[in-house]
Amino acid sequence: MTSIMTHPDHSTIEQTRETLRALRWVLSGHAMSGLQEWHRASRSPVFAAEPVGTDTRSEDPAQGLMLAREELGDCRRCRLHTSRTQIVFGDGSAAARLVFVGEAPGFEEDRQGRPFVGRAGQLLNKTLAQIHLKREDVYIANVIKHRPPENRDPLPEELSACRPYLLQQIQIIEPKIIVTLGRFSMMLFLPDAKISRDHGRPRWVVWQGKKVLVVPLFHPAAALRNPAVMRDFNTDMLKLPDIIAALNTNLLPTDEVITPPVAQETTPSEDQLTLL
Ligand code: URA
Repeated sequence: MTSIMTHPDHSTIEQTRETLRALRWVLSGHAMSGLQEWHRASRSPVFAAEPVGTDTRSEDPAQGLMLAREELGDCRRCRLHTSRTQIVFGDGSAAARLVFVGEAPGFEEDRQGRPFVGRAGQLLNKTLAQIHLKREDVYIANVIKHRPPENRDPLPEELSACRPYLLQQIQIIEPKIIVTLGRFSMMLFLPDAKISRDHGRPRWVVWQGKKVLVVPLFHPAAALRNPAVMRDFNTDMLKLPDIIAALNTNLLPTDEVITPPVAQETTPSEDQLTLL
């Protein structure tokens, strides 16, 4: 009786908040599994349409990525090959609907041959876990596949030598959402964006002829250097379940769609890729 008549005390309010938070995470979990269901639903008709006995390897994204990696070979298309230990191609699920695109491998990535395995990668893994995702549920790649010396910014000729391979990875995976980590990756998809203004704001982009949602985020390495950026990085990562849920339920506004010029100019044809 009294509980209705009196103001709830502080601990009751806190308890209610905690329950609401827990409920939100459960619902986010559903949104994530929705993402996986959605992936199956969108791919399976392609396979189902194939007559029995037909070679469907070209429809198999894992196979496609393997072939793309083979095509890259022992890449010497820019000067970065002289200082790198190994190529860092990409990591994760070829069936992922969510792709993260970082900048370039660092020391640890160059040593291990996998993207985001150093300190920035540990932060990425930690925040992925907070939204109930594992690395194996997503795909992670970089704009540049070789470590620049001393982790310097990639040069324009290095970016253009590597870009066709990132484009190819995206074309094979066909993600619904691309999360860019840092400026170099963001500029590829959203050339008019400013990271300080636009981080965490999803935008539709026509990419390789298909609409994809691009979410620009600060680079986790920048977050490790600056507590304010860390706060923004965490806040933006925690928005992803809601963004996915909104996408699954067609609740995102679709009026503003941008077509980055670079996507048009540099989408490689198969010929271009073999010539590179
Ligand atoms: N930073 C990146 O941009 N990519 C990596 O793979 C590691 C650190």
